[in-house]
Amino acid sequence: MLIRIISDIHSNFDALEAVLADPPGSKSSATFCLGDIVGYGAEPSRCIEKVRDVCDIVVSGNHDAGVVEKIPLYRFSRPGASALIWTKTVLSVKDKEWLSSLPYSAEFDEFFLCHSYPADPESWVYVLKPWQAISAVSARPDSISLIGHTHLPGCWTADGNYTDSVTGNFSKIRLVNTGSVGQPRDRDSRAAYILINTEKRTWEHRRVEYDIDSAAEKIRNAKLPAILWERLYKGR
Ligand SMILES: [Fe+2]
Repeated sequence: MLIRIISDIHSNFDALEAVLADPPGSKSSATFCLGDIVGYGAEPSRCIEKVRDVCDIVVSGNHDAGVVEKIPLYRFSRPGASALIWTKTVLSVKDKEWLSSLPYSAEFDEFFLCHSYPADPESWVYVLKPWQAISAVSARPDSISLIGHTHLPGCWTADGNYTDSVTGNFSKIRLVNTGSVGQPRDRDSRAAYILINTEKRTWEHRRVEYDIDSAAEKIRNAKLPAILWERLYKGR
């Protein structure tokens, strides 16, 4: 079974459309979303509608929880909080109810899905260091954890070794960060997602070009902070 995993869309519909149209991924039998559908970008409603339509499993990210007031605004950066305040004004009641209903984690087959930190999905810890990866993996010893949140694609072993290999198998890898669809931060401006083959037990990190000018213009038109469109070009 081929599964497509997307995360950190951040209201960037141009990037989301490009990822969903990427040929290998569009042949997948299921699509899972690891959260942060909204925040930062200018098309939250279109992204929610598409994710609701396409995804078989969706978990909440911190921005999804923030926009429905489950997390206080002071826990976000200043531009992030500005975008959440704006997002609240453009979402329908139905969209907010749907975001509010999302679970913080889910399981499928041998995979544990959450937005940030498998040891405590509501803590919103960033897995950046080996000790954080070791602690995250040891909390879910029987699972392969799939996460987003840092916007940095990569994989970790149980003993905290990191790899940014584009492809590999799950013989040693226990934690996979999908990277970000809508706001990559690894100095590659292309949208990121991963494909998993459950029979072969392999993963593939995919990168997809999209119309950054279009996404940036929408953020400018919404009068959101300039850093939110500038960073799309830099991928950081
Ligand atoms: Fe995010």
